[in-house]
Amino acid sequence: MMLRIKSLENLHGKYTPSRNTTKSVILLPLILLLLIFLVYPYQSFPKISEVGTNNLNLNNRSSSDTKRCNIFNGDWVPYSEGPYYNNETCNLIIDQQNCIKFGRPDMEFLKWRWKPYECELPLFNATQFLEIVKGKSMAFVGDSVGRNQMNSLLCLLSHVAQPEDISQRYKTDAIYFRRWFYADYNFTLVTLWSPYLVKTSDVDPNGHSSNSLMNLHLDKADEAWVREIESFDFVIVSAGQWFFRPLIFYENDTIVGCHKCELKGIKDLSHYYGYKMAMRTALRSLINLKGYKGVTFLRTFSPAHFENADWNKGGSCERTKPYTKEEIKLDGYILWTYMTQVEEFIEAQREAKERGLQLLMMNTTEIMLRRPDGHPNNYVYGHHSSKGKKVIHNDCVHWCLPGPIDTWNEFLLYLLKMGSQFSFNSNLERFV
Ligand SMILES: *[C@@H]1O[C@H](CO)[C@@H](O)[C@H](O)[C@H]1NC(C)=O
Ligand SMILES: *[C@@H]1O[C@H](CO)[C@@H](O)[C@H](O)[C@H]1NC(C)=O
Ligand SMILES: *[C@@H]1O[C@H](CO)[C@@H](O)[C@H](O)[C@H]1NC(C)=O
Ligand SMILES: *[C@@H]1O[C@H](CO)[C@@H](O)[C@H](O)[C@H]1NC(C)=O
Ligand SMILES: *[C@@H]1O[C@H](CO)[C@@H](O)[C@H](O)[C@H]1NC(C)=O
Ligand SMILES: *[C@@H]1O[C@H](CO)[C@@H](O)[C@H](O)[C@H]1NC(C)=O
Repeated sequence: MMLRIKSLENLHGKYTPSRNTTKSVILLPLILLLLIFLVYPYQSFPKISEVGTNNLNLNNRSSSDTKRCNIFNGDWVPYSEGPYYNNETCNLIIDQQNCIKFGRPDMEFLKWRWKPYECELPLFNATQFLEIVKGKSMAFVGDSVGRNQMNSLLCLLSHVAQPEDISQRYKTDAIYFRRWFYADYNFTLVTLWSPYLVKTSDVDPNGHSSNSLMNLHLDKADEAWVREIESFDFVIVSAGQWFFRPLIFYENDTIVGCHKCELKGIKDLSHYYGYKMAMRTALRSLINLKGYKGVTFLRTFSPAHFENADWNKGGSCERTKPYTKEEIKLDGYILWTYMTQVEEFIEAQREAKERGLQLLMMNTTEIMLRRPDGHPNNYVYGHHSSKGKKVIHNDCVHWCLPGPIDTWNEFLLYLLKMGSQFSFNSNLERFV
């Protein structure tokens, strides 16, 4: 079991666009521009630079005039205080992310904070967070990077409240579908495993191997999360690295194309196509669930940082400091994967609004692109066998705990606070 998880979770870093991809790369900005022009005339629609933070309250027009801080636009700045927790004070760090415990020697990666240009990002306040989510429920839907954020949240909250693991009451698989309950706050925190967000099946009916070709039903949201999600108050959706694998795309139960499947007669539509359609289906399915009244966050693509070789060919991430803005730009496949997502977000946000629901973006892609130093690399449990031989790939996809991913929960709290000023509750009742 562990082996399977390991190999599933070490994922592609580099991606070389095919010719088809190049075509869609050229089309994308045009489509995006078109979309912006199409939607711009509507007063209530956010300007693209504000997509992440505005529009938090739906029933208070006057306050939408006040300028809000774009917390996603800023820099990593030196910060001497160090992290909120460590491997001694938080006992919920899983071995795959417990970098210090497994020998990471450099500590500089813990000495940076995100500084938005327009304001200060407040420090994470666990009491405040728990007061906002009191009596409510929150779900992380997606892959193990989403779970990584939930694990960070567990640690950030751990000096104020300890959760009870209630997974067994719901599912047998407590790694993929984990439920935590904070009794003092009647708060439920859940992770729902769905790396593609849409329905999948193995192409090879004889079984599942981590590298086998998968079928993706791009027009059908994955029941694993859809059937659970309706009653949740806060849902954080994300997906990413899995879309770089070989995939066959289905719509209406018919093959429409693939990504890197190399099968005769099936057109390669690039990973962008699968990602786009899966995003569309996931966001729409959620927004259109009859009983769903939650606030939805789309956490954007989290880039990997394999250097020198691909993820499965010895690539690694050994840097010990962030990149500066000058050193790295959001471009290439990371930019286009991100843009694909933003485009779907904009459309889904419009639909959500019509339904009286809030859909917000956690615009973390560029922020994390600048943190090549934040990954476990080889500082994880079981990386070397007893004879010192390397047994698993370096991990340049997930993030060390503590580490820069803790910032995502500072963003989350910021967005929750903005919403709660106008009371999520009254919004919810209003739109029943
Ligand atoms: C996302 O944040 C980056 C900076 O990190 C900014 O350049 C970009 O415009 C933002 N995108 C949106 C849609 O707000
Ligand atoms: C609406 O916004 C104004 C100005 O920010 C604030 O004073 C008022 O309390 C808000 N009303 C509600 C119902 O949230
Ligand atoms: C925390 O990490 C340090 C440094 O590697 C290690 O010595 C210590 O045993 C770890 N503590 C726990 C509780 O894992
Ligand atoms: C954290 O939030 C609580 C509750 O809102 C507040 O009483 C406390 O002063 C805050 N702590 C800090 C350090 O800001
Ligand atoms: C706990 O929260 C749930 C919603 O998450 C609510 O249905 C239930 O009534 C709450 N229980 C108490 C005792 O407040
Ligand atoms: C899906 O396939 C069915 C059966 O072939 C057909 O009747 C239906 O029109 C198709 N729907 C779409 C949206 O293509």
